[in-house]
Amino acid sequence: MNEQEIINIENKLMANVFAKRPIVITRGRGALVWDINGKEYVDCTGSYGVALLGHSHPKVVEAVCKQAERLISCHAGFYNDMRAEFLQKLVSITPKGLDKAFLSNSGAEAVECAIKLARKFSGKPEIIAMMGAFHGKTMGALSATWDKKYREPFQPLVPEFKHVSPDNLEKVKEAITDKTAAILVEPIRGEGGVRIPPDGFLQGLREICDEKNVLLIFDEIQTSFGRTGKLFACEHWGVVPDVMCLAKPFAGGLPIGITVAKENVMSSLKVGEHSTTFSGSPLVCAAACAAIDVLVGEKLSERAATLGGYFKAKLEELQAKHSIVKEVRGLGLMIGVELRFDVLNILIKALDRGVLILDAGRNVLRFLPPLVIEKEQIDKAISVLDAVLEEEENARSSGTPSD
Ligand SMILES: Cc1ncc(COP(=O)(O)O)c(C=O)c1O
Repeated sequence: MNEQEIINIENKLMANVFAKRPIVITRGRGALVWDINGKEYVDCTGSYGVALLGHSHPKVVEAVCKQAERLISCHAGFYNDMRAEFLQKLVSITPKGLDKAFLSNSGAEAVECAIKLARKFSGKPEIIAMMGAFHGKTMGALSATWDKKYREPFQPLVPEFKHVSPDNLEKVKEAITDKTAAILVEPIRGEGGVRIPPDGFLQGLREICDEKNVLLIFDEIQTSFGRTGKLFACEHWGVVPDVMCLAKPFAGGLPIGITVAKENVMSSLKVGEHSTTFSGSPLVCAAACAAIDVLVGEKLSERAATLGGYFKAKLEELQAKHSIVKEVRGLGLMIGVELRFDVLNILIKALDRGVLILDAGRNVLRFLPPLVIEKEQIDKAISVLDAVLEEEENARSSGTPSD
């Protein structure tokens, strides 16, 4: 199939729910991907944060091939060696006390499980989430997601969800009632524009939850696995939640969702009350074991801290040079660049020049590159962005903005 045929088939036969970029990616290695014509791109999207170890990490590839020969599927109604090995590795890296897990297939599923768990454990219905939050698009997760463009077409959503203004402990306190089961929060809001909470906010949430006997759930689907320079973002503030939702990079690129909780919390779910057919499949668990080995063995969270500092400093130089850049913010290799206008044009122009960048809302560029990205690849991304911002600035100052 040639490029145009592939594009036509996806457009015709796949639900048109994705904002498509006009390239066909067929190969990837480390922080690079190539399109069907052999053109190379520096992938600062990391497949929306999934390819954190780099594309097709050789150790993940080896583990998947080996396991595929042995056993691909095994329902969680039976025991399995790879699943047991993965669970042990998982709880060896999760914050202390979070040591009982439910395994699923996606971030939204990890959130669904957390919502059910909160209701079952507490016997109460209400979940408090943050304005600006993103937790996924299945009905429960969507009810916790903030953006009305995702929510409105699907009303009525799951009842008893409310949103409070983020980073504001007083508002959280006021929102808690005797029906509140849990507070659900991303330690750093990803889709919401890469927003880092003020110091004291997450600690304050922990104190409020302890005082009011409410569960604290962290959605670390985008922020975990070393992304921010620590294995889990909550470690920056020394706060341990009662339940944590994980997904994206945990299986080295294969689909996975994980809800990990304190033992007494997870044990409130009884046989049959929650399940999914693919829970803890041997193939995915083999990939996830290899992924944890690579993450820890190659000290990738430390690399994220160092390279993230380098990347952010370079972006700050661009901010000093281009007045259309409003703010640069981030931790490790999770970085947002807020512009004074819509970013779509910048994304398309950067893609043309071989750099893939994500957005986060209308006016924020988001960088979630693989943690194995090389300094020279960061330099390429910076020089492309520099040129594209310059072009956009010139177009705007001459009164002919190109978007
Ligand atoms: C913080 C957060 N929660 C939940 C999700 C949903 O994950 P998935 O798309 O795997 O369902 C995402 C996805 O981007 C996310 O960033």
